[in-house]
Amino acid sequence: MIKRKNILKIAIDSPAAAGAGTLAKAISKQYNLFYLDTGKIYRMIAYLKLKFPKKFSQNFIKLKIKSLKVKDLADKALLSDEVGTEASIISKVKSTRMLVHSFQLNFAYNPPKNYKGSCLDGRDITYNIIPDAEFKFFITANVKTRALRRYKELKKLKKKISYEEVLKSIKKRDKSDYNRKISPLKKTKDSVLINTTNLSKRACFLKIKKIIDGKINI
Ligand code: C5P
Repeated sequence: MIKRKNILKIAIDSPAAAGAGTLAKAISKQYNLFYLDTGKIYRMIAYLKLKFPKKFSQNFIKLKIKSLKVKDLADKALLSDEVGTEASIISKVKSTRMLVHSFQLNFAYNPPKNYKGSCLDGRDITYNIIPDAEFKFFITANVKTRALRRYKELKKLKKKISYEEVLKSIKKRDKSDYNRKISPLKKTKDSVLINTTNLSKRACFLKIKKIIDGKINI
């Protein structure tokens, strides 16, 4: 694998709907980093499983990942609660994770030349994908706040779902993501904890920016 030298790598892990994606995008823009929401890759695989159950196999996933473009991950169909729940099931499979792993490594260590580095968010980024990241963050919020935020997002997308259903599926996903045997969600000792429960997006962004600027002397 090609590794670009002297790039800035930011690794973020978080439970579902904690605000990591929004923050990661803002940070990536601020520091001109190539951004990847790794959850979207698992969501895309889950979506394929739901849409083509008969064709679904390791080989099928392999081929899809080989031709995967970042713009494919922007598909709104990936945002549904059903796809999220299925993603937390397929992401427990070791062979699937291995296929996704190499895609993520290339992204993290070999971002396009016009970017100064990379920023990835997910569940195992800080200790599995970019263990040598210059900055690591664990972004969280209490479960009810997260459920409310996700509920509002889904409502904007005109999805038919109640707050209670969203809360239930986030709790289920948390349980699975934190307790699974392979690459569970965890906060590493070297990650900075950011609790977004009572902070605005701007306040969270500034908190992270202060940490980064303090170390890279901008
Ligand atoms: O981040 P998002 O909620 O879109 O992720 C969907 C699911 O994909 C998560 O609940 C988790 O099970 C899985 N995932 C993972 N590893 C990652 C990113 C997401 O297992 N790095």
